[in-house]
Amino acid sequence: MKLENTELYFDRAKKIMPGGVSSPVRSMNATGGIPLYIKNSSGVTFNDIDDNTYYDLCMSFGPLILGHSHPRIVDTIQKVAIDGTSFGTCTTYEVELAEKIIEQHPSTDWIRFVNSGTEAVMSAIRLARGYTSRDLILKFAGCYHGHADSMLVKSGSGLVTFGLSSSAGVPEDTSKNTIILKLGDHEALKKAFEIFGDRIAAIIIEGIPANNGLLIQSSEFMHLIQTLAKKNGALFILDEVITGFRIGSGGAAAYYNIQPDIVTFGKIIGGGLPVGAYGGRKELMDTIAPLGPVYQAGTLSGNPLAMAAGNEVLSILSEKNAYEILENNGALFENMMIEEFDKNSKPLSIRRVGSIIWIIMEEDAKPTQPNMISDNAVIKYNQFHNLSLENGVYLPPSAFEVAFLSLSHNEHSISNIIDKMSKAGEGL
Ligand SMILES: Cc1ncc(COP(=O)(O)O)c(C=O)c1O
Repeated sequence: MKLENTELYFDRAKKIMPGGVSSPVRSMNATGGIPLYIKNSSGVTFNDIDDNTYYDLCMSFGPLILGHSHPRIVDTIQKVAIDGTSFGTCTTYEVELAEKIIEQHPSTDWIRFVNSGTEAVMSAIRLARGYTSRDLILKFAGCYHGHADSMLVKSGSGLVTFGLSSSAGVPEDTSKNTIILKLGDHEALKKAFEIFGDRIAAIIIEGIPANNGLLIQSSEFMHLIQTLAKKNGALFILDEVITGFRIGSGGAAAYYNIQPDIVTFGKIIGGGLPVGAYGGRKELMDTIAPLGPVYQAGTLSGNPLAMAAGNEVLSILSEKNAYEILENNGALFENMMIEEFDKNSKPLSIRRVGSIIWIIMEEDAKPTQPNMISDNAVIKYNQFHNLSLENGVYLPPSAFEVAFLSLSHNEHSISNIIDKMSKAGEGL
């Protein structure tokens, strides 16, 4: 693997950008590598600036559900760009995208577009606080909701704890308004509502927690959240930034048959361009400016390129049996990988929902909470990541990031990927 140009650019970047990157995980610090600099892409592969080709199992951390450089998305972006890239006023694309999202999400009457998942969650929380006139937010340890101050909070010790900031720069006054709970812990959840019920503005959970591995929650737990929120006048925010249009057109709300008060979106609905959105019932969304007192705005919000690309993605997803194909791709990948690793007596577990896949390098792992895999599994994953890269497969650059498949993956590419990963696995 030649990395001459990559090293050159990384050296330049490190002199002028923190860690040389625009987002920390890209630095490959966790796996001990250096960032990839991508030149171009097509379908399930991309090429770096040293002309190495990789099968991509990361898919830009989820947005690229159609694969890289899908011809219809590229065509849409090109056509829209000719007419202009931003106007600071409205376009038809945002109306059409809003209609498409709302059609699939019965809890969402109205929607507001923003520029990232972080912005969507930050705005949803402000909305919840503005609507309820309460301050406290309940969040689960191990769930990531972007980097708004109130979400960069980790748990203290005890059943129900006020949060401690997990990043420098988050004021204590902010983190003390976030209460951290254990995923799947019914008793802690009940207790939190018992103690703080009339002060809780909202409870937030990822559709399926997928930022600390894939921590699949029971339907009972999701329904308990909904019931307790409702009973206590708190809002239930379902963060579907990853799961929205990924595990089905109705996301985790449909998967669990739940009706959140506010839903946050990102990733897929922007077709690979920067996007976020939050939506809810009309009476809640009524409180947002210009109609109500909760202020939220954005120079580039509803950007025509992102809106048109998102529109096209959702059209393609609705045209064919997309989610059946994604499930089949996921099942094939899972079965083939387990078979190969069994054959070579290498420890492996896979957690999977449709095309979201968590690879764990130990036997019989079924974590539902953070910190349930061994240090050894993490070390092995990091080694496996590097060996896979050398064999031409780009896995998520951390043992706690999930992999994503796309509609461009098929039997042929999956079997090539597994061949390469099997070779990589021999080096473990
Ligand atoms: C569930 C969830 N919410 C929010 C975010 C933040 O989104 P963004 O990175 O677009 O700000 C992420 C990012 O991965 C996420 O996975």
